Amino acid sequence: MPSAVVAPSLLAADHGDFAGGIRTIEEAGLGWVHLDIMDGHFVPNISFGPQVIAALRPRTKLHFDVHLMLTHPDRFVAAFAQAGAERLTVHVEADHDVATTLAAIKAAGLQAGIAMNPDTDPRRLLPYLDDVDLALCMTVFPGFGGQAFMPAVLESIRFLTAERTRRGAGFRLEVDGGINTETGCLCRQAGADTFVAGTAFFKAPDRRAFAQSLTA
Ligand code: DX5
Ligand code: ZN
Repeated sequence: MPSAVVAPSLLAADHGDFAGGIRTIEEAGLGWVHLDIMDGHFVPNISFGPQVIAALRPRTKLHFDVHLMLTHPDRFVAAFAQAGAERLTVHVEADHDVATTLAAIKAAGLQAGIAMNPDTDPRRLLPYLDDVDLALCMTVFPGFGGQAFMPAVLESIRFLTAERTRRGAGFRLEVDGGINTETGCLCRQAGADTFVAGTAFFKAPDRRAFAQSLTA
């Protein structure tokens, strides 16, 4: 199982000061930032695009964990690669040939992830698990920060954990949505190792201690 990582979501930062949000993550001693890209079509919200990522790239060495909530993620692989993403995660439910998109992400030199919504059967991820560096279980319906964690997803996390062990695979298991110390611990017990936290991270009185509560 990969070492535990906390990836704060910039969606919960001040959108007028993303550079400040990046500094806040660095000051907490963390190495990753989660970047939520929404197209107003795959999800009912719009966030920001590759231009914002390109503008942040020279300001930080943080690992850019980019979550594409797009109907046609295949059309944007090159743009996000050029913008400086290290990792692109695409949804299995989106309108694309998943295997082709994952291959394009890797051909661009990036790490590839596959994401599923809370109500998706985790077996839909099985054909791709040998080709990804990360599997993302959404623990809320994507689109907005600040929603309540859905405990039913723990079953999918356990399923993917068992499958990872069975294959001897090394992909990360990421959870995203409503993650705080309590729900993060439940996910960790189920096998998750990569924790996206937006609201709970940026609102934490001691962000370093909050992150350590998920990784220690
Ligand atoms: C939801 C996004 C999440 C979200 C997490 O669509 O994918 O990354 O920002 O935010 P919190 O931690 O506030 O649920
Ligand atoms: Zn996300």
